[in-house]
Amino acid sequence: MEFKKKILCIGAGYVGGPTMAMIALKCPQYKVTVVDINAERIAEWNSENLPIYEPGLYDVVEKTRNVNLFFNTDLENGIKESDIIFVSVNTPTKEFGAGEGMAADLQYWEATARQILQLSESSKIIIEKSTLPVKTALAMERILSFSKSDIHFEVLSNPEFLAEGTAISDLTNPDRVLVGSNETESGLKARDELVEIYSNWVDRDKIITANLWSSELSKLVANAFLAQRISSINSISALCEKTDADVSEVANAIGMDSRIGKKFLNASIGFGGSCFKKDILNLVYLCQYYGLPEVAEYWLSVVKINEFQQTRFIMNMLNAMFNTLAGKKICLFGFAFKADTGDTRESPAIFISKKLLEERAELRITDPGALKNAKSDLENIEGKISYIKEPGKAAYGCHAIAVLTEWEVYKGLDYKEIYKSMEQPAFIFDGRNILDHKKLFDIGFNVFPIGKPALTHF
Ligand code: UDX
Ligand code: ADP
Repeated sequence: MEFKKKILCIGAGYVGGPTMAMIALKCPQYKVTVVDINAERIAEWNSENLPIYEPGLYDVVEKTRNVNLFFNTDLENGIKESDIIFVSVNTPTKEFGAGEGMAADLQYWEATARQILQLSESSKIIIEKSTLPVKTALAMERILSFSKSDIHFEVLSNPEFLAEGTAISDLTNPDRVLVGSNETESGLKARDELVEIYSNWVDRDKIITANLWSSELSKLVANAFLAQRISSINSISALCEKTDADVSEVANAIGMDSRIGKKFLNASIGFGGSCFKKDILNLVYLCQYYGLPEVAEYWLSVVKINEFQQTRFIMNMLNAMFNTLAGKKICLFGFAFKADTGDTRESPAIFISKKLLEERAELRITDPGALKNAKSDLENIEGKISYIKEPGKAAYGCHAIAVLTEWEVYKGLDYKEIYKSMEQPAFIFDGRNILDHKKLFDIGFNVFPIGKPALTHF
């Protein structure tokens, strides 16, 4: 089949993989190739065991793979033959020099820009898909402006708003698609080409356009606002635990105000994931860079409350369990940063595990999809840890269970049987408020939710 256009995506990660699979599914007239420097990852994309766990993803990949969706490591040919290039390589936080610990490390990004420049034999549209600091497109344009005279690169920003675990439904039915471009003739033409791709399945009124900088900034701000809601409700959960208030009741009462809204008000052990912390720190760095220390401090407090919430969780465990965890077996229900994903990047479970091990507790970790990542996260950490797939077995003989991820499976377990198998007095720390606390208390557990009065037998 002759394809209308050839799309290349550089970076086969959580963003690039699912997004390209969806474009391939909805746009059979385009050839979509995804390349990555990581050959193992590419082999997984070509296998039955995809490198990321995402409900519904396999179906989409199966329908399109080797039809109009291809995964390989041939960056050179990919760049040469493509008309449109999405760049979704990772942009980790910088670990050295200016902006260390805050600014985005753009070395992979710049290396990619230089490769595109070197290998291209025709004009192309280059699309920023990774979340990047504002003005990265400008830097990219500057590098790409050194092209041969007859080759023109037009840079667009098209941030991805999908959340892990719901990637396929978010991609199928997005709240909005944002396309940022230069307001020049060639910028607007490129913008229209990208809009046309999305129009294959997204309502036209949900596809919005903006200038490049607004588009880049909107992605950072969207994540900062979402994270801010979680830190706001988590800060209130601390106050609820000191009083007789119940954070779920408070969230419900405020969420019914349509101006506030109900979503993203679940108090928890804190937010994790590859985006929130990184993007806020990025925003903080930008504010500092542009001489706005008050604004920087405001957004930094969102991260600080998130750290406070995780520390508070550990302190609550320690206090409840008679101020010593040494030699006690603690079962962690869940390690992923949220349910329905195997991803553990920035998961609060990592910090909590390390702190529990420092207290010399023994850990039994269970998770339906993240045990492989959990093992590698805790690889060089000293202490006794076992990884057990089945939650009932993992909790067997433990002194306490801590629910760290809101997997559905934890709601339906036989807690009577689990209780009988545990050391007494048995404790449950529900870091996600997903269990029936009264029922657990009646079984005999001492129950410690987030932002609600504890239910204890002593
Ligand atoms: C986020 C954004 O939602 C998405 O738009 C963006 O593209 C990438 O970053 P993601 O990190 O996949 O997506 O997950 P999200 O559902 O936003 O959850 C982030 C963290 O917040 C998780 O650890 C989750 O458990 C936590 N969370 C979320 C809460 O603690 N309480 C809530 O009410 C909601
Ligand atoms: P995200 O969550 O933003 O998708 P990931 O870390 O999951 O980030 O994916 C980014 C991918 O980009 C990784 O698979 C990594 O190997 C790949 N990558 C990084 N640099 C390059 C490069 N120069 N060329 C091709 N792929 C790259």
